[in-house]
Amino acid sequence: MRVATLPLVVLMTLLALTGCVNPPEQTATDTGATPGPQAGDRPIRIGFSMDTLKEERWQRDKMLVEQRARELGAVLDVQVANGDDAVQTKQADNMLTKGVDVLIVAPHNGVIAASIVEAAHRRGVPVIAYDRMIQNADVDLYVSHQVERMGEMQGQYALQRKPKGNYILIGGSPTDYNAQLLRKGQMKALKPAIDRGDIKVISEQFAREWKAEEALRITEDALTRTGNRIDAIVASNDGTAGGAISALEAVGLAGKVLVTGQDAQKDAVQRIVKGTQTMTIYKQIQPLAFSAVDAAIKLARKQPVETNDKVNNGKIDVPSILHEPIAVDKANLDATIIADGYHKREEIYGPGK
Ligand code: GAL
Repeated sequence: MRVATLPLVVLMTLLALTGCVNPPEQTATDTGATPGPQAGDRPIRIGFSMDTLKEERWQRDKMLVEQRARELGAVLDVQVANGDDAVQTKQADNMLTKGVDVLIVAPHNGVIAASIVEAAHRRGVPVIAYDRMIQNADVDLYVSHQVERMGEMQGQYALQRKPKGNYILIGGSPTDYNAQLLRKGQMKALKPAIDRGDIKVISEQFAREWKAEEALRITEDALTRTGNRIDAIVASNDGTAGGAISALEAVGLAGKVLVTGQDAQKDAVQRIVKGTQTMTIYKQIQPLAFSAVDAAIKLARKQPVETNDKVNNGKIDVPSILHEPIAVDKANLDATIIADGYHKREEIYGPGK
């Protein structure tokens, strides 16, 4: 179901119709942990464990989670692990020790973060996987966008404009389950054309840590191997798109090769205007951040949370709130990203434009 673009009232009604998740039973036993507060007791304490603030979007996520927590009178602790799994685990442990009532986790490594869920549940603390799934764990709730659908949108977009030719697929971090879901969606769109022989995949690698440098290297390598004969680059996010475009610029092909992206970050949207990047996937962060905080408070208060989907994480079907992404290129940039105020017009087009 597509929900993110609907007004909140409609959204809540839809969610109420489609399903809801009950908070887990308190499981604190020998840990000495006290159960979370009931409604009205005292402010809910939320821990937000983040992988990174590297991409612009994560700074937005942090700001909006902070804003929503403030609005609702919750006490928020934000910790950022800067891509280090041991640090993320430790930070989450510390927040649990300090007595948070609920954890929101944007994992660096979706597999390793399962231990955070286990530690939280030992204390009776529910866990929300934020944006990225935590795998093989009893995650209480997943709040994200339709990630596989985003991959499909990238693939479809490329295929419609470049139905034949040489393609490079640049995936995201191998430790991020989103990278796999995106690739799955991309392949869903591209496979028939690959099977027909219309599309030749020159490279289908994953960029460690979503690094632009990795994308640059992957693109350079594919350009060299084909004598610069590349028609489309399906880059999984804007950071990797930027790396790929640097490689294209070096051989005079920027603007001639179709390049996808994701995140609608400012430099990418500027590149769309300039013509060097073709499209991005615009994910509104406010509904994501707000729905995560709203759900966190409900879980902490043992109130049911309305969901609109389920996503399997290898262990269970995790009740999920998935928001809708929008494919954006030059044609609908003004009507979406600019109209929403996600970026200001002059930041994208330059002063006075
Ligand atoms: C993904 C996320 C993207 C992008 C990327 C790099 O998990 O869905 O929006 O930010 O991580 O951090």
